[in-house]
Amino acid sequence: MHRRAKTKPRAFVTRAIAPAAIARLRRHAIVEVWPRNTPPPYAQLRRRAREADALLTMVTDRVDAPLIASAPKLRVISNLAVGLDNIDVAAATAAGIAVGHTPGVLTDATADLAFALLIAAARRIAEGDRAVRAGKWQTWGPAVLLGHDVYGATLGIIGWGQIGRAMARRGLGFNMRVLYASRSTRNGESVPGATRVSMKRLLQESDFVSLHVPLTPHTRHLIGSPEMALMKPGAILINTARGAVIDQRALYRSLKAGHLGGAGLDVTDPEPIAEHDPLVKLANVVITPHIGSASHTSRNKMADIAAENIIAVLEGRLPEFCANREAVLRTPASTG
Ligand code: DGY
Repeated sequence: MHRRAKTKPRAFVTRAIAPAAIARLRRHAIVEVWPRNTPPPYAQLRRRAREADALLTMVTDRVDAPLIASAPKLRVISNLAVGLDNIDVAAATAAGIAVGHTPGVLTDATADLAFALLIAAARRIAEGDRAVRAGKWQTWGPAVLLGHDVYGATLGIIGWGQIGRAMARRGLGFNMRVLYASRSTRNGESVPGATRVSMKRLLQESDFVSLHVPLTPHTRHLIGSPEMALMKPGAILINTARGAVIDQRALYRSLKAGHLGGAGLDVTDPEPIAEHDPLVKLANVVITPHIGSASHTSRNKMADIAAENIIAVLEGRLPEFCANREAVLRTPASTG
């Protein structure tokens, strides 16, 4: 009897990630890596997904229900991120597709960046750097670039996941009074020295408010005009979560009116933020291009986990870091 050969599964990786992770993946699948530094256009992603058993995606790739519906062989979507707002996880679950992500390994890198933005906004570091480069450093001056103390100030953390807690530990290290608010009814892991309060109280009492929530329908524009109005005059808002957690127009209005004192944003809505966006023109806003997890170590670990999440499914297991463990996984359609 003629035996049909088992074909190797196909994986499409939407950007060049750590070579070791790609090499590992190649032992289990025929791997295509998108060759450019910018994301594959949606139509290209959809075309590749039609043929793929596995997708390894970035936060910049929209994996929506129509794409999932047109990918009959797809068994796993593995996101190189902890956040999953770019993926329709419900549609994937309904289709029997596992969704993997990379929690844990980017916690400290992201908290480091959030704290760096906090200090940069408080102490006007980016403004100072711009002034030096523009040849505007004339002399030491008693009133030049005065900022706000971080040490001893009150830090309010919204969202009590791993990154929120890591931010709390950094604040405590700077002798800050640390408050946190969380929608979760569970108390979560405690960080000695940090106090849980209502969101209202947090907004009213904090000198710095740092956002650490995932983007969901509940958290879209979580911080808008009413919340900013509750914040202390001169308070500084830090966002390393997702841009749309803040109503950006309201942020501009509040900064322009002189109510909020500054902002440190690693994420914007949309990304990239337009060069002509009025926020970009404000000296008291520090903006970085979504680099929270961008340390060599974190990105290598993220790549390893993202590859491993795919390999697990190709071997018939649920990924270790699976966002939809309830999914009843599709069986491979890979004999040819
Ligand atoms: C994430 O992991 O969700 C970040 O935004 C990308 O590193």
